[in-house]
Amino acid sequence: MALLPIVQYPDPRLAQKALPVEQFDENLAKLAADMAETMYAAPGVGLAATQVGELIRMVVIDISEEKNDLKVFVNPVIESSSNDLVECEEGCLSLPGVYEKVKRPSHVKIKYQNLQGENCELECDELLSVCVQHELDHLDGIVFIDHLSMLKKQRAAAKLAKLRKEKARAAKRGETQ
Ligand code: NI
Repeated sequence: MALLPIVQYPDPRLAQKALPVEQFDENLAKLAADMAETMYAAPGVGLAATQVGELIRMVVIDISEEKNDLKVFVNPVIESSSNDLVECEEGCLSLPGVYEKVKRPSHVKIKYQNLQGENCELECDELLSVCVQHELDHLDGIVFIDHLSMLKKQRAAAKLAKLRKEKARAAKRGETQ
């Protein structure tokens, strides 16, 4: 297994629509395992293939506290979503340090394939619902700040750029000491 570099916003790859998975082979299983390792190491609760530069429709999610409930969704589709909305603070491994409240349907039902290509369904609520919607958005080239007003989105992008600059400066200081 290997840790994969995470594509950072505003890399144009994050705005691309991912392609359906057609081959359910060991390469796909290996990518899923590497994505899971990368997600756990970050640490994060979800990661889309888009975020590691692979433009295919696959996401990994684990919202358990013990980090022992890995879910891999291949070609996931939201089949139905509830009318009631819930507002939740979201973050993203492609936008580290930025957290914003996003409103989404509180329940969704998804259809997907597992790594063997079998058709599955899952009802999602609470954190899993939010996480699933956030990750599925990535497959359509949408990041969570795209759900904000233009002003809030600009502020979030500016904050991200500032955090990145500070981090680069701190790293540079570290090197010269
Ligand atoms: Ni994300």
